[in-house]
Amino acid sequence: MLVLGIESSCDETGVALYDTERGLLAHALHSQIEMHAEYGGVVPELASRDHIRRTLPLIDTVLNKAGLTKNSINAIAYTQGPGLSGALLVGTSIAESLAFSLKIPTIPIHHLEGHLLAPLLEENRPQFPFVALLVSGGHTQLMLVSGIGEYELLGDTLDDAAGEAFDKTAKLLGLAYPGGPAISKLALMGKPNYLLPKPMLNSGDLNFSFSGLKTAVLTLVNQQSDPTGKINDSIKADIAYAFQESVTEVLTFKCMEALRRTGLDNLVVSGGVGANKRLREKLNLATNKKLCKVHYPRLEFCTDNGAMIAFAGAMRILNFTRESLSFHVKPRWDLAELQKP
Ligand code: KG4
Ligand code: ZN
Repeated sequence: MLVLGIESSCDETGVALYDTERGLLAHALHSQIEMHAEYGGVVPELASRDHIRRTLPLIDTVLNKAGLTKNSINAIAYTQGPGLSGALLVGTSIAESLAFSLKIPTIPIHHLEGHLLAPLLEENRPQFPFVALLVSGGHTQLMLVSGIGEYELLGDTLDDAAGEAFDKTAKLLGLAYPGGPAISKLALMGKPNYLLPKPMLNSGDLNFSFSGLKTAVLTLVNQQSDPTGKINDSIKADIAYAFQESVTEVLTFKCMEALRRTGLDNLVVSGGVGANKRLREKLNLATNKKLCKVHYPRLEFCTDNGAMIAFAGAMRILNFTRESLSFHVKPRWDLAELQKP
């Protein structure tokens, strides 16, 4: 069964073809990062308009790459939410109308389920059950994953998501959007000269909070700036280093705590912040020490992409009877609300 996947929840148009027997056949992505960079963040209206321009050509690209035509597609999976309403509506309208014209079913997908299952696209697949750390621009959650559609929320952020904290801290340091890659690059040149708080480390639960850390960075930036508000590059690198150390330490600690509390030995990390090298180093070390395994998607599938949506659609087809053909988007949608049909 051939599934076309369409991702358009934020600032990336991702399209892919996943075959339930042959695996991932093709994927293509257009990132809007350059377009939004001059505004310092995603401009929703520009995002929607760009998805309109990109989606159909990207569908042609993946079909060409796979040497197939639209008529070979058996189902279309698309991101129904959470995300930006206008952006979601573009992918949804294209998916639903194309499916209608081809007389094939659609499979609305929860964006975070896509991220969560992305590591299963790799050869060395994690086995259920596992603990998943979802760390994206909008979410920081620990989930207990017992199977496809069986997700239990173990911990969540009380305020900013980890990716959001990277993005906001980068802005404070005058770095380009998106902040995650910019901070991790700058942190490579940083030294351990500052200590920032490690929020919620000893909270006794699996929740997170990153907004105070951003405020601590702001205070430090103000302290270290000269009277004209300028801050020298080596201090900036040291602050980026300290910030990255704090976030990655808290994330690593809570992941290990989630494994301990659930008694599981398999960890899956997904979402944009999962691409962070320092986080991977720390998680590799910590899981190794406890004889646990950690799984990541390949780097390009950490951030938004069509492959994870096509794959989640294929898993839903294989595991469940077809869900309703509803046509609406869910800009706000908790992953823990998902249930087996
Ligand atoms: O999963 P994603 O592409 O989009 C959402 O669903 O939100 O994640 C984007 C987030 C952004 O906040 C970005 O700054 C962060 O992931 N990110 C990183 C890295 N690459 C992307 N954060 C830390 N280190 C990275 N290397
Ligand atoms: Zn995402």
